[in-house]
Amino acid sequence: MNILLIGSGGREHALAWKIAASPLLTKLWCAPGNAGIAREAECVALDVTDHSAVIEFCRRNAVDLVVVGPEIPLAAGIVDDLAAAGIKAFGPSKSAAQLEGSKGFTKDLCREFNIPTGAYRRFDNANDALAYVWAQGAPIVVKADGLAAGKGVVVAKTLAEAEAAIAMMFEGAFGSAGTEVVIEDFLSGREISFFALCDGETAIPLASAQDHKRVFDHDEGPNTGGMGAYSPTPFVTPEIHDQIMARIILPTVAGMKQRGMPFRGVLYAGVMLTEQGPRLFEYNVRFGDPECQVLMLRMMSDIVPAFLAACDGQLKNFDLRWFPDPALTVVMAAKGYPGDYKKGTRIDGLDEAAQIEGVEIFHAGTVEKDGAILANGGRVLNICASGKTVTEAKQRAYEAIDRIKWSDGFCRRDIAWQAVEAEKSG
Ligand code: GLY
Repeated sequence: MNILLIGSGGREHALAWKIAASPLLTKLWCAPGNAGIAREAECVALDVTDHSAVIEFCRRNAVDLVVVGPEIPLAAGIVDDLAAAGIKAFGPSKSAAQLEGSKGFTKDLCREFNIPTGAYRRFDNANDALAYVWAQGAPIVVKADGLAAGKGVVVAKTLAEAEAAIAMMFEGAFGSAGTEVVIEDFLSGREISFFALCDGETAIPLASAQDHKRVFDHDEGPNTGGMGAYSPTPFVTPEIHDQIMARIILPTVAGMKQRGMPFRGVLYAGVMLTEQGPRLFEYNVRFGDPECQVLMLRMMSDIVPAFLAACDGQLKNFDLRWFPDPALTVVMAAKGYPGDYKKGTRIDGLDEAAQIEGVEIFHAGTVEKDGAILANGGRVLNICASGKTVTEAKQRAYEAIDRIKWSDGFCRRDIAWQAVEAEKSG
């Protein structure tokens, strides 16, 4: 099969690595890709916002399947346009991608189909939003309705923080994504990531994972796209797993079908494990980044038939197998991220780092120039490792990081701390 993968992050490097291992693959392209993906696929400088150009590329190269990594092309309707041109594409339609593209859409769906989530209200002006937070008090969560590159959610600990978030969003900090704002109850508990592969009707759960969104150790500092993840997480017990499937994932898939927008692709639920049970706090319509990196390391099955079954509505009798060993990833980012950072700084020692048992390195924001790997983004590398325990995977990943010479980079040193503590206490 000829496959085109869209995206350029660590998630897409992990997907490219997994797709490249499929015996079904003839040729893999990635648009636009990065220096690491270039080892698995031919990177092509296609403008993925130009859907006609993508269709023309697919026709010229007899592409059998397009796999879309990030949310922006999905929300822009690339899967619909490819399907209209007769090209199979993995990912939700534009209307189904509203589960990530509009926080208000998702909250309304939860209300209609009785999916457990925090209480909320939608606002199209600052005055009404302010009156609501004054009545509700803090902590409270303020969200830009639309896509804001992971920066559109403010967990306001005080009323002053909530007021500032409302002002920032309605003053246009996120452009049209902030013309509507959703305000919802603060949920306290443990945050986990739950993924399901969907074909519009059937949902197959993937392995569980936990992400670390804050930039600094001890979960301090601003939110990022994710600074590290591990899988499986001990906090998704079989009982919690079944509750999430029964109360959150399956009603969502049924509700989306009932609304005439069946969800096909990867449904990524951000779930808070509260004292009252699992509560949905957000949906994404794609693999998580960096959670995808650990899921790909743990997936034993060939991923290509899974993509095809999801596209073709054939997941009903499908099964996915997983390696039992845990996997962990640590994100190395450019100093300054998630604020301003430098590009073009040189990274050495990657080959030495990759020699450690169980270690796999996925690139996110990198380019290759004259044989050297240079940083080219905020999140730059994913240092991943498998082990018999999360503790062993963590030791291996940090041993690899200590071999990498990149004075302009940094990482958290405490990824998976909750699982490591749980392993220590037996
Ligand atoms: N890991 C967070 C995200 O992918 O949105």
